[in-house]
Amino acid sequence: MESPQEKIERLRRELDEHNYNYYVLNAPTIDDRTFDEMMHELQGLEETFPQYFDPNSPTQRVGNDINRSFSQVEHRYPMLSLSNTYSIEEVSAFYERVRSGLMGEDFELVGELKYDGTSISLIYEGGRLVRAVTRGDGTRGDDVTENVKTIRSIPLQLRGNDYPDSFEIRGEILMPWAVFDTLNKEREEQEEPLFANPRNAAAGTLKSQNSAVVAARGLDAYLYYLLGENLPADTHYENLQYARSWGFKVSDAVRKLHSVEEVKEYINYWDMERKNLPVATDGMVFKVNSLRQQKNLGYTAKSPRWAIAYKFQAEKALTRLNSVSYQVGRTGTVTPVANLDPVLLSGTIVKRATLHNEDIINALDLHIGDMVFVEKGGEIIPKITAVDTSARLLIGEKVRFIRTCPECGTPLKRIEGEAAWFCPNEKGCPPQIKGRIEHFISRKAMNIEGLGSETIGQFYSLGLVRDASDLYTLQPDVIAGLERMGERSAQNIVDAVKQSCSVPFERVLFALGIRYVGETVAKKLALALHSIDRIIEATTEDLIRIGDIGVRIAQSVVAYFSDEDNLRFVERLRQYGVQMQITEERLSERTDKLSGATIVISGTFTHHSRDEYKALIEQHGGINTGSVSGKTTYILAGENMGPAKLEKARKLGVRILSEEEFLEMIQ
Ligand code: IVH
Repeated sequence: MESPQEKIERLRRELDEHNYNYYVLNAPTIDDRTFDEMMHELQGLEETFPQYFDPNSPTQRVGNDINRSFSQVEHRYPMLSLSNTYSIEEVSAFYERVRSGLMGEDFELVGELKYDGTSISLIYEGGRLVRAVTRGDGTRGDDVTENVKTIRSIPLQLRGNDYPDSFEIRGEILMPWAVFDTLNKEREEQEEPLFANPRNAAAGTLKSQNSAVVAARGLDAYLYYLLGENLPADTHYENLQYARSWGFKVSDAVRKLHSVEEVKEYINYWDMERKNLPVATDGMVFKVNSLRQQKNLGYTAKSPRWAIAYKFQAEKALTRLNSVSYQVGRTGTVTPVANLDPVLLSGTIVKRATLHNEDIINALDLHIGDMVFVEKGGEIIPKITAVDTSARLLIGEKVRFIRTCPECGTPLKRIEGEAAWFCPNEKGCPPQIKGRIEHFISRKAMNIEGLGSETIGQFYSLGLVRDASDLYTLQPDVIAGLERMGERSAQNIVDAVKQSCSVPFERVLFALGIRYVGETVAKKLALALHSIDRIIEATTEDLIRIGDIGVRIAQSVVAYFSDEDNLRFVERLRQYGVQMQITEERLSERTDKLSGATIVISGTFTHHSRDEYKALIEQHGGINTGSVSGKTTYILAGENMGPAKLEKARKLGVRILSEEEFLEMIQ
């Protein structure tokens, strides 16, 4: 019979093996369900036999929600950067420098991909991961060990037995494209700021205060550099092969190269092939293979003389600027757009590019007819990055940012300190009016289906709808008589409009389109003040007192409701049956999910304010108290929870809940 200890150890070994097969080799040998069952079994055993606790057990990869600020750690060897080149010629020059630096001795280079993530230093002792540190300033970095442990492709316990007792390995932590796309989609839906590229997303995630967040984000890691006194081989290439055998993810793209010719072939091959990789790369790295030769070549103040990075050019195309047009958005902001000769860029035809604002146009010194470079960086919308002034034969008219609204002729205004110009004619400028109606009917606002921007445009130009409240007066027979409409679609529209009368008040508030009042702010206002009448009466100070409502938002709300037209608009909506207060049911959504629980709130939060959490605890039958004691059931912990509280909680064995866990509990 296997003893509990033996069983725990066996399960750990087997789960490590399956993790390795899945995350490093991409070749799982069991299905997810079996894996989960084994993990559960191990978790159960570890709970029953806490004396066998091991910080590197596969169960420890799930992360926890203990808030911590990272401690700073000095690097044993400074983390240097590489000097960059952008052309084959510069790489050849590097090759020659190495040759003469080595007094004509033969040498090999190792070609690798340059992974575009965030660099990490991992320390292993006795085959176990003991510390993971970010690059920081190169000399000191943040200790992110707990977060790194959640990355499944990083071994917590090495395989085999020929690893040095103590060594450091460096590499890049990456967020795969697929994970990045999904993450941004989620953030977009929640109106959270998007990550510009996978590198920022990986770096941001790694610095998360909550390792459970890291665990959920699906990071990956490639390792590319070993350091230590007792490395197994005296070449970089062989050491990487060893590292692979110990369970590290080492890229299959690593190659030994023997001439500038081979370097060129390598560059040409990977310049194309890298587009098929699941992770972002921004170039290649060439390193001298022999460690002895590396030592001979040494370092400059900033980077090794034995290595160089070759960076890919961002994809760009050269095309002609035909004209600049100006778009007016819902809030009146005027955005300049470049109209271009169609050109192929990263597989799509580009005809337009954003010019952002007046300052950018002036900085580029744009003239109509100029040949311009368009680039698609990590961003989705292409932008103009430079003008090819050498191609200017006849100089066209200088592009000057307009001073009057292209839609309604009103003189534009620019807010001190801001780059954007806007049209102040909110009541009479057609795209602003139409934009507000479109916002009103959008999915997250009143969710009126069957109406698109074209139909809104049609209603508006015929004078049927001057603001969103007119939608409630539309008659089916009038709509049915319009172009591209029938009785059926007319009736559907009228029904959908009517249906929107049941949309809850907080979404109505969002639908009004008050500047700076997004979904979340609208919800806060509605929960705090309950009705439109109380919001109308509220002063700036009243609003700020709600918590999480800043001066800018508060002033904007007050300004909106001090406008007679807006008040009349709200009154009309109320008459047509639109919800203007929060319902009793919503207010009294009481449950006993937390009945008997005493909960302490600590730290700062992202989803709700402290007061809201307090209200939620009470709403669900719990008791909110101020200090941690033997009676405390949970601590609801946000970021930066005080260390004293944390220590006390640990001692008393009080369970710590993250915001997400708490919200799930009361779901
Ligand atoms: S070697 C002393 N190899 O690029 C040389 N770096 O500017 C240590 N990087 O901070 C670095 N892929 O984050 C090396 N295959 C690779 C790399 C790589 C990406 C990053 C790394 C480093 C930066 C150098």
